Amino acid sequence: MACLSPSQLKKFQEDGFLLLEGFLTADECMAMQQRIGEIVAEMDVPLHCRTEFSTQEDEQLRNQGSTDYFLSSGDKIRFFFEKGVFDKKGNFLVPPEKSINKIGHVSPHQDATFLYTEPLGRVLGVWIAMEDALLENGCLWFIPGSHTRGVSRRMIRAPAGTSFLGSEPAWDSNLFVPLPVRRGGLVLIHGEVVHKSEQNLSNHSRQAYTFHLMEAAAGTVWSPENWLQPTTELPFPPLYI
Ligand code: FE2
Repeated sequence: MACLSPSQLKKFQEDGFLLLEGFLTADECMAMQQRIGEIVAEMDVPLHCRTEFSTQEDEQLRNQGSTDYFLSSGDKIRFFFEKGVFDKKGNFLVPPEKSINKIGHVSPHQDATFLYTEPLGRVLGVWIAMEDALLENGCLWFIPGSHTRGVSRRMIRAPAGTSFLGSEPAWDSNLFVPLPVRRGGLVLIHGEVVHKSEQNLSNHSRQAYTFHLMEAAAGTVWSPENWLQPTTELPFPPLYI
């Protein structure tokens, strides 16, 4: 198994993120994209579940909070859409394959806002570029070193869906640095590092595959207030025991 070099580990610890170039081959990316294409082609979203995804607090509460489609998405394939994808009746205004938000932009946030553990520092995001993700088509941006400041706000389950504890600071946009990634590159994302991606206004899609890992050893507690909870049908699968 490949390991991080001491200098890579140091960089991750300092910055809160790390790019590993060429993690997947172009063929592996294409195979994954083909499978994503099949899933999107077969997607069937009930009209009342045409939920737009946003990390803006108000919209999140309105669009996701009371929506069972979102809260029960942890062990299923569910679809979340960019703004302006649907008309008022819920019909697609853009081709469905261009509409999926999780392959789109997100406002500044820390993953621990949504995936909270005690102690902190036990969640790691993995983000793999299926296509080049560059400045012009919505690459990731980070505030280096911002993972050492704790968590500004938390999204928790509430009787009506979800609500927030705390608030997202107005992050200084000058502190963000872009991280262009070529196809097949993998980005490790510390659970508390502040990151975002801009809207992709170019003609080039930038599909990415992303998931999160939790270090379950040493008494880590996955908050029972997190929106995402393991189910009996799909407990969080251990990577190794
Ligand atoms: Fe994130």
